[in-house]
Amino acid sequence: MPPLFPERASTMAGRVDALYFFLLALSAFFALLIAGLIVYFAVKYRRRAPDSVGDRIHGGTALEVTWTVVPFIITMGIFVWGASVYFAMATPPEDTLNIYVVGKQWMWKFQHLDGQREINELHVPVGRNVKLITTSEDVIHDFFVPAFRMKADVLPGRYVSLWFHPTRPGRYQLFCAEYCGTQHSKMIGEVVVMDPTEYQTWLSGGAPEGSLASSGEKLFQDLACITCHRGDAQGRGPVLQGLFGKTVTLQNGETVVADEAYIRESILNPGAKITAGFQPIMPAFQGLVSEEQLLALIEYVKSLGTQPQVEPARPTPSGPAAGEATPVKDKSKK
Ligand code: CUA
Repeated sequence: MPPLFPERASTMAGRVDALYFFLLALSAFFALLIAGLIVYFAVKYRRRAPDSVGDRIHGGTALEVTWTVVPFIITMGIFVWGASVYFAMATPPEDTLNIYVVGKQWMWKFQHLDGQREINELHVPVGRNVKLITTSEDVIHDFFVPAFRMKADVLPGRYVSLWFHPTRPGRYQLFCAEYCGTQHSKMIGEVVVMDPTEYQTWLSGGAPEGSLASSGEKLFQDLACITCHRGDAQGRGPVLQGLFGKTVTLQNGETVVADEAYIRESILNPGAKITAGFQPIMPAFQGLVSEEQLLALIEYVKSLGTQPQVEPARPTPSGPAAGEATPVKDKSKK
């Protein structure tokens, strides 16, 4: 007999299942109670003579209060419980292994910070918090790994973060759970959860092109971004060193946090949010850079966050991260 429920391979799986089983048990309890009472009352109050008439009833306050208050308490309990699980799922912890995910008709593309790329297969180490920063380059997809009880829409033009903490090594199925065209049902893959040592071996096997940030740096030079965004504050564009995660004041006095979405928008459509004190002279890169190139540029800007404000951008991309065998750290953390 096939198992009724997928296996539990993340820290969230047990919490989701507990809530789900509670809802199932509660529904079963009330379904049986109501069905049982219908039968019982139908027998007990059946018409015994052809001309018998029922008594008139004028309400029962105690009964009405009971059937209002008890369900209210139960449903509020479900609300609080459900919300606590939801917030735990929606809030990634501080220390995460970040991996970019791009959905596309019809495949899943994964980009590791060390430079490895994968399609329809994602390797992660067991026992770490993994954060997936997802986007789509065409239509809405949905990233669904039943064993992790993890599911979220992957949207074009936005970065949606989801996280999980795998608890056991193994291979777990990945689905697209949003109809996205003819090959939707084939937009599947596997998440491979590995022992940390195996994962290190796997990591060191790939990445011939260096880290994601270093390819972003190269792109930054190839696209001539560096002529205006200089590290010494003498350029015509804002200094990007130490920018990521900061609050930026715009020309109209509003403020915005420099997150992935802001950097993406500022590359594709620079006129949308002009930093105070600068001219809207940057050309739009809409249609000129791919989603993957955007991720590389964003990761490069993130990597500048750890450098002191005054230090100019390094001229060569000879990446120190290229041969690094240490676990990937989120360099965006302040
Ligand atoms: Cu992608 Cu369905």
